[in-house]
Amino acid sequence: MVNDSSIDRVVNELRRLAEIGAVGEKLPSTRALQQRLGVGPVTVQRALGRLVAEGRLVTRPGAGTFISARPAVQVGDTDWQQVALGPSPVHSAGVDTIFQAAGATGFQLGAGYLDASLRADGRLSVAVSRAARRPDAWASPPTAGLAELRSWFGRLLGADPENVLVTAGSQGALSAAFRAILPAGQPVLFSTPTYPGALAVARSAGLIPIPVPGDHDGIRPELLRSAFARSSARLLVIQPTYANPDGSVLAASRRAEVLEICRAAGAFVIEDDYARWLGFARTPPPPPLSQDDDRGQVITIVSLTKILAPSLRVGAVIARGPVMSRIAAMRIVDDFFVSRPLQHTAIELVSGPAWAAQLRSVGTALQQRAAALVGALTQHLPECSFTAPRGGVNIFLRLPTGVDDLVVAREAGRLGVAVLPGRYFTIGEQAGAHLRLSYAGIRAEEIPAAVRLLAEALRTAAGSGG
Ligand SMILES: Cc1ncc(COP(=O)(O)O)c(C=O)c1O
Repeated sequence: MVNDSSIDRVVNELRRLAEIGAVGEKLPSTRALQQRLGVGPVTVQRALGRLVAEGRLVTRPGAGTFISARPAVQVGDTDWQQVALGPSPVHSAGVDTIFQAAGATGFQLGAGYLDASLRADGRLSVAVSRAARRPDAWASPPTAGLAELRSWFGRLLGADPENVLVTAGSQGALSAAFRAILPAGQPVLFSTPTYPGALAVARSAGLIPIPVPGDHDGIRPELLRSAFARSSARLLVIQPTYANPDGSVLAASRRAEVLEICRAAGAFVIEDDYARWLGFARTPPPPPLSQDDDRGQVITIVSLTKILAPSLRVGAVIARGPVMSRIAAMRIVDDFFVSRPLQHTAIELVSGPAWAAQLRSVGTALQQRAAALVGALTQHLPECSFTAPRGGVNIFLRLPTGVDDLVVAREAGRLGVAVLPGRYFTIGEQAGAHLRLSYAGIRAEEIPAAVRLLAEALRTAAGSGG
């Protein structure tokens, strides 16, 4: 006899089986269920029918009944969340576009990471398989990072290994450093234009970014002096080498002056040295600013993501004195440590011949790409201005007066060229509109066609009054 309570009992048992089984696994036959649960075939069929209707099981005629993926819970009215959330502490303007641009089809002048032809994919495959075979591959590493990797970064950057902390790329390092150094509500000086990811971290930490404009020789000392005089800032963020977005390099004549101004203000300097290994072939980059600093003022951040691959989330902070303990403590609070297999992969790669080979191939290709971009911009966009890069992957293109960067970027995207509007790289009001063009993700031979389309986009935008 079929009654509701025996159907419920079978439904419960089927639900249990679906819970403990894997998606796609076959359930016992109807006959087996009948025998196991002491019920008739109709009871089993009705119970199966209910779970099929719920989407928890699926029947394939002639094959049997299988566990299907748990149906997604459909959420209805979420308006309450807006009330509960209130104003957002997250400021991601510009950061979200970094990886959107990377996925775009067409010509890629928007991506800040190397394209597949230059990325170290093959070299990393070898390194990652060696790393994965280590018996300790999945054990927890020391929270500051593996000793071998800290020593390697230290050797390259002129730092003691105990002053090196391994981080999840530069982004993780910036996030830990800003929050470790300053409590919310404090001002922080940025040499501008600057990287939107750093601005997003600062704003999301409740800090107040203050612009200090630079030129092609980096931050302007006289403006830095007055920014400190007008604010109580205790932190300056600069990219002395091949800055993103304008490619500027802090002039040798300014290095000591900038450090002296910060010393007088009692301020730390975060040196985002993200492009340390993106120098052009045969032109070595200047040394990190921390090498001129014997007071523990400069905190240097480097990363392997730019020269190897964005998914190798391995970077480092170099800091001396109590500030290092704070940053290290913040890192542990955030996410404990960088995954051990990734650290071993980095060690495998940088300690073999693959490292020098990667530096050589990327340096040569970037120099060619930069030359191709400079040539094409000079030819097709004479109404725009820029400084030719000496290393790194970016050009900050100044647009003619009256043209809107968002409109040009949108129009370029429509024509199949990804570029980033300059406003994301700035703080507050601007003297002029710019586009950030990157040649990390585009091959040299594609550049002339991409720039011709960009010129068309600019003319359309200018003609439409944008
Ligand atoms: C100046 C600068 N700093 C930091 C980063 C973050 O890099 P990652 O976290 O991949 O090392 C980027 C990425 O574009 C950058 O341009």
